Amino acid sequence: MSKRKPLISGNWKMHHNHFEAIQMVQKLSYLINPGDYEAVDVSIHPPFTDLRSVQTVLESDRIPVALGAQNCHWEEKGAFTGEVAPTMLAKMNVSLVIVGHSERRELFGETDQQVNKKVKAVLKAEMTPILCCGETLEEREAGGTADKVSGQIKAGLAGLKGEQVAGLVIAYEPIWAIGTGRTATPEDAQAVCAAIRQVVADGWKDAADSVRIQYGGSVKPATAPDLMRQPDIDGALVGGAALDPDEFSRIINYRLVG
Ligand code: PGA
Repeated sequence: MSKRKPLISGNWKMHHNHFEAIQMVQKLSYLINPGDYEAVDVSIHPPFTDLRSVQTVLESDRIPVALGAQNCHWEEKGAFTGEVAPTMLAKMNVSLVIVGHSERRELFGETDQQVNKKVKAVLKAEMTPILCCGETLEEREAGGTADKVSGQIKAGLAGLKGEQVAGLVIAYEPIWAIGTGRTATPEDAQAVCAAIRQVVADGWKDAADSVRIQYGGSVKPATAPDLMRQPDIDGALVGGAALDPDEFSRIINYRLVG
């Protein structure tokens, strides 16, 4: 089986206002070549307030970068002050939504059940969820990585049909590697990503082959090539290094290194 087309996603978190976002996207577009787009899919996930501006730049300049969001609510409308509905994102041609990022789980108390509702709501709005999972340092040191991650995946995908799971994206992001400069070794990351694919295969059989599994956690231009070479790593979810178009483009170009 040939490897899935990689997806490299830039998660800007709470950085860049909409003016800065426009500049970032334009700069990035000058640094990505047609060959890059053939080899990898690219998405950027700016804050909500930037989405409309970034959409306009991507569409008017015909930049083949997918527009992504970082979160959404699971309801379509209602009295949910401060929340954004999946259909509102879809209307702006957002095609990918990060769901259950560890910062949302740890800092904002998102539960597996809420993550599951969000995954379903994103699919219902005809977008693709990037379902995040990952263990803390304590869990890792106690040998609990596999249990934590497989529990998050089973709960996040609970109740989905095979055809819904096929083609979605999972991001394995060890929490101790996020924003810390520490990365899992390519071999460790591969082992966890293979275990994730097995969890998907156990629950949804054939869907497992088409699920793209990203690695995230301090991915840099220097570490991307070895990570991306692993058979079960189909892309990267990039935080810090995605804030700088030059660094991000060098990750997108990972295959040209070495
Ligand atoms: P990082 O963030 O690349 O800065 O570690 C990754 C993420 O949280 O998605």
